[in-house]
Amino acid sequence: MKIDILTVVPDLLEGPFSHSIMKRARDKGLLEVNLINLRDYTPLPRAQVDDYPFGGGAGMVLMIEPLVNAIETLQAQTPYDEIIYMTPDGATFNQKTANKLSLKENLLIICGHYKGIDERVREHFVTMEISIGDYVLSGGELAAAVVVDAIGRIIPGVLSDETSALTDSFQDNLLAPPVYTRPAEFRGWKVPEVLLEGNHRKVDEWRHEEAIRRTTQRRPDLMEPDATKAPSPSKDR
Ligand code: ADE
Repeated sequence: MKIDILTVVPDLLEGPFSHSIMKRARDKGLLEVNLINLRDYTPLPRAQVDDYPFGGGAGMVLMIEPLVNAIETLQAQTPYDEIIYMTPDGATFNQKTANKLSLKENLLIICGHYKGIDERVREHFVTMEISIGDYVLSGGELAAAVVVDAIGRIIPGVLSDETSALTDSFQDNLLAPPVYTRPAEFRGWKVPEVLLEGNHRKVDEWRHEEAIRRTTQRRPDLMEPDATKAPSPSKDR
């Protein structure tokens, strides 16, 4: 899977994909992440990519010319399945959307900065708009890192234990059960006996009950019937 990320601060994204599971995914050739500097695509002097908003107001807006120049140049090389814009007014990202996107071949992610991007780019090029939560970041880069991490780790073959991602929280609308490792007792705090007995059926039952208990206590909304629905990601064009 290939993910191209268009940004004015590519340096900000060097770190998140160079370690741990993301690094492994890239080293195994299962995930290719390319950081593309919007400034390389501006036809304007002094590598200008932003300008004041029409109508006045605070903040700068990423201009249509460099964005369209970049998108069309990249599109000529890669047939994108989705062109995603990271924005706080997008559909809230969740595991269902991550699962769906992990099956795609090629994604382009556009990171806004300052006040956002010229609306005409959203109207004419963007196919999906994603928010990672109801708060405003200074740019879409950290949000893009979250989305790419969530997608990358569930690409088949990335995690060494094939079933590992399937037992994550949210995969079956349940939070994950508690986990423990050695020692079995620390300061008198004991690991539940059932986990030490070696009876796999009983362990599975215990984990399922704990997942239900935890979800009921912390996120009862996940157990409601329509919690399985992903927000409709693709816009009609
Ligand atoms: N850009 C700024 N804030 C954001 C958010 N919450 N989600 C996605 N992109 C953003």
